[in-house]
Amino acid sequence: MARIMSPAPTMPSSGDQPVLPTWEEIPTDLAQATSEIKAAIRARIESSGRSLEDVFAALEAAIVERVNEVEANNEAGETSWTVVDYDDIAGGNVDSETLAHLRRSGCLVVRDHFSREQALQWDTDILTYVQDNDFSDAYGGADDGFFGTDKALPEMYPVYWSSAQMEAHQSDRMATVQSFLHRRWNWTSNGSQWFDPDHHAMYPDRIRRRPPGVDSAGLGAHFDTGNLDLWMTSAYQASFRHIFDGAIELFDPWDAAHRTAGTQYPGTTMCSAFRTFQGWTALSDMANDQGVLWSIPIPEAIAYLLLRPLLRDVPDDEMCGVTVNRVFALDERWHSLLLRAKSSIPDVQAGDSVWWHCDLVHGVAGVTNQVGWGNVMYIPAAPWCERNETYAASVLSAFETGSSPSDFPEEHYERGWSNRFSIDQLNEHGRRGLGLGPARAR
Ligand SMILES: [Fe+2]
Repeated sequence: MARIMSPAPTMPSSGDQPVLPTWEEIPTDLAQATSEIKAAIRARIESSGRSLEDVFAALEAAIVERVNEVEANNEAGETSWTVVDYDDIAGGNVDSETLAHLRRSGCLVVRDHFSREQALQWDTDILTYVQDNDFSDAYGGADDGFFGTDKALPEMYPVYWSSAQMEAHQSDRMATVQSFLHRRWNWTSNGSQWFDPDHHAMYPDRIRRRPPGVDSAGLGAHFDTGNLDLWMTSAYQASFRHIFDGAIELFDPWDAAHRTAGTQYPGTTMCSAFRTFQGWTALSDMANDQGVLWSIPIPEAIAYLLLRPLLRDVPDDEMCGVTVNRVFALDERWHSLLLRAKSSIPDVQAGDSVWWHCDLVHGVAGVTNQVGWGNVMYIPAAPWCERNETYAASVLSAFETGSSPSDFPEEHYERGWSNRFSIDQLNEHGRRGLGLGPARAR
């Protein structure tokens, strides 16, 4: 199996731009480190010949244009999400206009990714799997701490190894869509290959089952890429080099350089893998006013999130409320421009899949007395790269023992469940996704 090694992260050394200090682990004095990095980034940007305020104004003008487009779409009742039929992806028939739309929106619905019948069968199979193993008794009625609901069963089931999930993970149709998604990124540059777009690391995640009639508070605006590490680690500084060096016009949210090897600060919401897109597959039909996912369909918005705290109206030792061990939440006080551009997914039916660029701000709308089920299985697109190869080793050992993967709470419900998916049921996609070689002939 080919290894993909990433070179050590480096910031471009153009001219006399000051070098940024780095903290590869969480700084012991957060306030001091925050003040230090903010001053250093300001100085670096200003050494480009433009003030921070000028650079931010140029960025903001571009973002305002996109926000206005999304607002106009919302008012017209049109979606800002890109929508593609699975057959067009499989046949290589996605036209250039649609590809350009996806490049701008960063989010996609794949229609008929799986047949509706297949998805509904998977939904039934998962229910049977948890019922056969008395999950509700084992679960004990704890609050899942995620969607702010409190009831005997969680909305998020910490179940990873059902046949239904694993069949979807390792299916040809999933691999086809994941390759398409990876190829939206620039995965080679300056003689480096950052990832393999046709080799998919398996990233097991949970399922969500939300029954009809439920009330849910939803999830606020956030993004999952990191927190203070976004400004402080060498890998993220290199990834976001054009945000931090004043050449904001050169920033490309689809550039994979230095994204695939670095560390993240540990925390409850961290993702050890590099995902080109986060995603889920619908296991029920869902109308877009029933507490569904929304995104801010502007991949460049991450530059706004990273530069906004450097403006002078934010205290020197603060990052607009962002800190370690907490999700990066948006705040109306600092991010009101971006929050105008919330864009719900369109109606989906079971078998459609939903994808969003890993840096997109997103959330889940609240709902009262939900009509119909709200069931999904989370399966992202994670290409083979140094970072994902490392995580795959821990995924494999979790798979072998039925444990919760190491990015998730140590609940391990499935360890004693005899009918979970087994290693001899893996096909070639499944084996490669877990870092295993080809199956030996029997
Ligand atoms: Fe999220």
